[in-house]
Formats: sequence, structure tokens, C-alpha cells
Amino acid sequence: MKNILVTGGCGFIGSNFVRYWLSNHSDRIVVLDKLTYAGRRENLDDLWSDARLSLVVGDIADGDLVRRVCREQGVTTVVNFAAETHVDQSILGPLVFTDTNVRGTHVLLEVARELNLRFHHISTDEVYGHIPDGHQSVEPDSLAPRSPYSASKAAADQLVQAYFITYGLPVTITRGANNVGPYQYPEKVVPLFATNALLGEPLPVYGDGGQMRDYAHVLDHCTGIEAVLQHGRLGEVYNVGTGREMTNMEMVEIVLDTLGASRDLIRHVADRPGHDRRYSMNVDKLRALGWQPRFDPREAVAEATRWYAENRAWWEPIRSGEFRAYYERQYAERLARANS
Ligand code: NAD
Ligand code: TYD
Repeated sequence: MKNILVTGGCGFIGSNFVRYWLSNHSDRIVVLDKLTYAGRRENLDDLWSDARLSLVVGDIADGDLVRRVCREQGVTTVVNFAAETHVDQSILGPLVFTDTNVRGTHVLLEVARELNLRFHHISTDEVYGHIPDGHQSVEPDSLAPRSPYSASKAAADQLVQAYFITYGLPVTITRGANNVGPYQYPEKVVPLFATNALLGEPLPVYGDGGQMRDYAHVLDHCTGIEAVLQHGRLGEVYNVGTGREMTNMEMVEIVLDTLGASRDLIRHVADRPGHDRRYSMNVDKLRALGWQPRFDPREAVAEATRWYAENRAWWEPIRSGEFRAYYERQYAERLARANS
């Protein structure tokens, strides 16, 4: 039995991972989470009574705290989900992305080095930057991030690899595609569009909506991380996605059709600055570990959309609370000038 420190375990992917891991393993999990706007204790409300799970509220960049928690709890493995994660937020206020994603990861690596912990880092396909047609990113490709978010994630990846090369720290990295599923904060596109459609509000599509993403179900990401933790080679990077991308317009149509909502809700609004046109990853290296995704991207988007239709009690307080100020700032002017 292992004691695993899951950072960012109250966020979207972290909470799905904790739930998946506790139902499939006997290990103990300590969640370390700062509970930012995206981190919600209630994402794990069904599990806090499990004696194998505990929560420490705090910052991954606080080395004294991380060291104390790891020592007191006998942590053997760190799985680092904690991050600032939204590209649009990184355009509005980038510095916290460096604080958490770069410095925070570096602090965790230092503690892992001191206590000789197994370290798994959660990264993203966005570190590869825009991918031209005809290519799929493979793990040795050079990194070419183009947003403050992806630049901070790329810096973290480089630090993790440097700790393997320099100190021999037992590390692995997974680079996930755009995840969809339960408990995703509604700033991200699929929960934003699903909840807007359920509220009868317009769906703000950036630019022409021809951008391409690999929309992967979060459970397939969790099993991918599991495969790497169990069978991955130390020092290596593994892409995790479906290997198939669709345009944002295709994704919007799946969301609307799943809800039986009208396409009249679509609005084309001013594009995101520096918007990466296409992400696409080759996932053969992970498949070679015996992993395969259960959901195709269309099913993943439809399944996620249904969750928001069936779980209004989770997202309505978010949408009517703190999220409103962000939504106004990000979308009011765009929507006022929109073309349908
Ligand atoms: P999220 O924004 O839903 O959750 C992030 C979590 O990290 C929250 O619980 C938050 O409170 C916590 N956190 C933030 N700063 C912290 C700090 N300084 N100390 C401790 N905790 C802190 O994010 P997510 O979508 O679940 O993403 C999790 C990880 O997966 C991130 O590293 C992200 O870069 C990566 N990733 C996400 C996607 C995606 O589609 N969402 C795709 C690929 C990779
Ligand atoms: P997002 O969920 O923010 O993920 P990322 O930018 O990390 O890929 O956005 C996914 C895609 O949807 C991306 O091409 C941007 C687009 N998008 C919109 O068209 N409108 C929106 O309101 C948002 C949030 C995203």
C-alpha cells in the first residue's frame, strides 16, 4: 500500500482521479489543495468519510508545508495536478500561473528530491503549441508554447525532466488532451457551453470555430495516468488523449444536439489572442503500455454534456456566484458585438 500526495485533488481532473484511484486501489491519499476558485471541497463530498482520504488546505509553493505533510503522512508518491489551468485567465492575469505552475512544481520537486519520492507530473498537449495539419505531436517533439498558461506548463515539464537527468529523481510526465467530464469548472468550453445552453444563453464561439481539439473523457485520462504510474519508464513522457480531434463547431453541435437545444444560440465572438488553431497528439506510446481509451471524442463530449444537465445543483451556485464577474469581463463586450 502506498501513501500518495495528490496535489490539486479538489479540482476537475484531480477529483476524478482521487475517486477513480480509491475505488480501484487500497492506497491512502492525502489531497493538498489551495482551494482556488477552481478547487472545490464538495467535488469529493462522497468520499471525505473514507478513512483512506484526507485533505490539507495549502499551497504547493509552500515548501515547509509540503515537507511536513510528506513526512508526517509517510508519502511515497506525488501526483501533481495542482495548477492554474485556464488559458483565458492566463491572458487576463498571468503571474499566478508562474507562481503555481512553475515555482510550485519546483518546490514539490525539491521536497521529492530531499525525501526521495516518486514524482508524477500532469502536463498538457498545449506545451507543443499549434500543430500544423498532417502532424501529430509525439513525445520527443520540441515544446513551442504560445500562451502564458502553456509556457508555464512547459517550464514545469523542463524542470521535471531536469530533476531526472541531474538528480536521478524517479519522475514521469503525462501530457493530457482537452479533458471533459464531471466537475469541470464552467470557464472551460464544454461545461460553459452546456450550462449556457441549459440557461438559454448564447454560446460564445471564438472566431470561426474551426480550431481543433482532442476532447478526451477525464476517466480515460485517469486510466492513462494509472498505466504510467504502474508501468511507465522513469524519465519518460506519455501523451494521453484519443488521438482524434474535432473542430470546435463540431463540439458545439454535439453539446446542443445532446440537450435538444437550438443552434440559434451560437454566436461567433472576437477570438482569443494567440489562439492555438490545432492540437493533435499521437498516443501510441501510452497504448504500448496496454492502455486504451474507452470513450471516443464524440461520446466524451455528449456524456460530459449530459452530466451538466443532470447535475444543476453542482454548477448553478457557481454560475450565479463568483463566476459572474469573470463572465462579464470575458464575454459581455464580445457578445454585444457578436455575429450569430
Ligand atoms: P482545475 O483548475 O480544475 O483544478 C486545479 C486544482 O489545483 C484546483 O483544485 C486548485 O484549487 C488547485 N490549485 C491551484 N493552485 C494551487 C496551489 N498553488 N497549491 C495547491 N493547489 C492549487 O484544473 P484541471 O483541469 O483539473 O487540471 C489539472 C491538471 O491537469 C493541471 O495541471 C492541468 O494543467 C492539467 N491538464 C488539464 C487539462 C484539461 O483539459 N482540464 C488537460 C491537460 C492537462
Ligand atoms: P478551453 O476549454 O479554454 O481549452 P483550451 O484553450 O485549453 O484548449 O477551450 C477549448 C477550445 O474552445 C479552444 O479552441 C477555445 C474555444 N473556446 C471558445 O470558442 N469559446 C469559449 O468561450 C471558450 C472558453 C473556449
